[in-house]
Amino acid sequence: MTTAGPNELPLRVTGLRTLCEGIREVTLGLAGDGVLPSFAPGSHLAVGWADGERNSYSLTGPMVEPRHYSISVRHDRAGRGGSAWVHSLRVGDDVVASRPRSAFAPVADARHHVLVAGGIGVTPIVSHVRAAVMWQRSFEVVYVHRPGADAHAEDLRALARDRLTILRSGPELLAHMKARLFDVPLGAHLYVCGPEGLIEAVTSAALDAGWHRQRLHAEPFASAAAAGGAPFAARLGRSGALVPVGAETSLLEALLARGIAVPNLCRQGVCGECKLTVRGGGIDHRDTYLTDDERAAGDAMMPCVSRAVGDRVELEL
Ligand code: FES
Repeated sequence: MTTAGPNELPLRVTGLRTLCEGIREVTLGLAGDGVLPSFAPGSHLAVGWADGERNSYSLTGPMVEPRHYSISVRHDRAGRGGSAWVHSLRVGDDVVASRPRSAFAPVADARHHVLVAGGIGVTPIVSHVRAAVMWQRSFEVVYVHRPGADAHAEDLRALARDRLTILRSGPELLAHMKARLFDVPLGAHLYVCGPEGLIEAVTSAALDAGWHRQRLHAEPFASAAAAGGAPFAARLGRSGALVPVGAETSLLEALLARGIAVPNLCRQGVCGECKLTVRGGGIDHRDTYLTDDERAAGDAMMPCVSRAVGDRVELEL
């Protein structure tokens, strides 16, 4: 078991369920009795699976004063080991996790919510749908998955009823979205979670249909923003030290390897936890966290995925 950091929750596995082949639902409660912190739809937990290692998983269960948290985890055989660890858990095991954090919350005054899930990207969408039903918000949900890989389809059917469309392929999804994107009420917001390619296809279709970027929200399930690129160096403003960043490592990894503590969670440019202040140098932004205006300001970067343009970036660290 990993050691709980400050502000982390000691949790215990209280239930396990196979949702479909390769996807396991884990239910976590407090080690003692009690109510867990409430959370916003689209929130995730960072679960510690080895010392210093945390993986983020979206919360799929009820949000208000829950007695349990639920996450659904696909066993990624090519991953670093976090999902394999989750798949080895037994009821009664102790785990540590962060408090829930939100990086993909719904916009409260949206007139309508179009929720699109691809594959295991369904997990944050489940809690969006739960909240939309609870608050009687106007919404529709589209879930595209391979035959049999239908985690949470039953939950969505029960919650969304005729507001759910299930599709089987990318082309089917695009055809459906292209028709719907012209048809939804003005003031609607679109939320999409899934593989990067699916997100790109849906958001470009929305932009082509005249949607404003501010009404589009995405959470990549696995970031395509690889850490690699040309080598560069980061100069640290306080000590003046120069930290080299190799072609195959991220700036975050290089800083951590030098013993510089940078908080981080998703390592995919999604959660915002690792944001650093930049004093100089161009930034190749590869995250999905900063807004266009924040990127244009050029004074912040997400070192887990973003890199320098050129050979140097100066950090306030
Ligand atoms: S760790 Fe989440 S954005 Fe960098």
